[in-house]
Amino acid sequence: MQVGEFLYEGKAKQIFATDDAKVVLIKYKDDATAFDGQKKGTIVNKGIINNRVSNLLFQLLEKEGIETHFIKQLNERDTLVKKLAIIPIEVVVRNVIAGSLSQRTGKAEGVELSEPVVELYYKNDELHDPMINEYHIRVMGWATTEQIQEMDRLAHEINAVLKQFYDSIGIILVDFKLEFGLYEGRVVLGDEISPDTCRLWDKVSLEKLDKDRFRRDMGKEAEAYQEVVKRIEAVLA
Ligand code: TMP
Ligand code: ASP
Repeated sequence: MQVGEFLYEGKAKQIFATDDAKVVLIKYKDDATAFDGQKKGTIVNKGIINNRVSNLLFQLLEKEGIETHFIKQLNERDTLVKKLAIIPIEVVVRNVIAGSLSQRTGKAEGVELSEPVVELYYKNDELHDPMINEYHIRVMGWATTEQIQEMDRLAHEINAVLKQFYDSIGIILVDFKLEFGLYEGRVVLGDEISPDTCRLWDKVSLEKLDKDRFRRDMGKEAEAYQEVVKRIEAVLA
């Protein structure tokens, strides 16, 4: 596989073409941002850890019959994935109240929800990723009713698999964000699932093992990310 031209740079990743029009290469960076890019920094070896974590979790999901964009990890920072036509929606799944749900409801962080809550956001930094609903998505033409239903179904399935897996390694999966795209007409899981895109709390100490450490200036971000990849690799690698 030949690496081709640079296509796109996001906040945490770069994308390159390959000699196969249906495949792109993702390169994970150490750059960290929060609040739609207003806060900037780096987390040591974050790119290496997120590449590894995401690929191991995507392979776990594939084993459970959930299609992802993952094809092959090439090296520490580079992974080949199916080229998706990204649906510009962020699908957030929540098991425990935290972050913006706590702010929106006035309920304390840490309260377990009686069932998972799925939220939809329009992926647009300039607009600060506003929360939207399925009417907006359909009427704006971002996805069809069937595609919205499929994202919802997959979000619940992915949550069931990941929640159980994280529980088995002593971590509470508080909430996380997913992005989907179209590949050969199918709705396929893309982007990444990593400590950047999940809230992960140690089951015993409730210590935060995710990007909230960066967002909230708590320190020890790199150590937290290392702890997550260490526990995942002990089971999945
Ligand atoms: P929130 O509580 O800030 O809405 O975040 C919910 C989850 O989504 C949390 O696990 C972090 C993740 N997330 C992203 O991956 N990207 C984002 O831009 C935001 C705002 C949240
Ligand atoms: N997407 C947000 C940003 O880069 C990061 C976050 O809060 O997760 O600003």
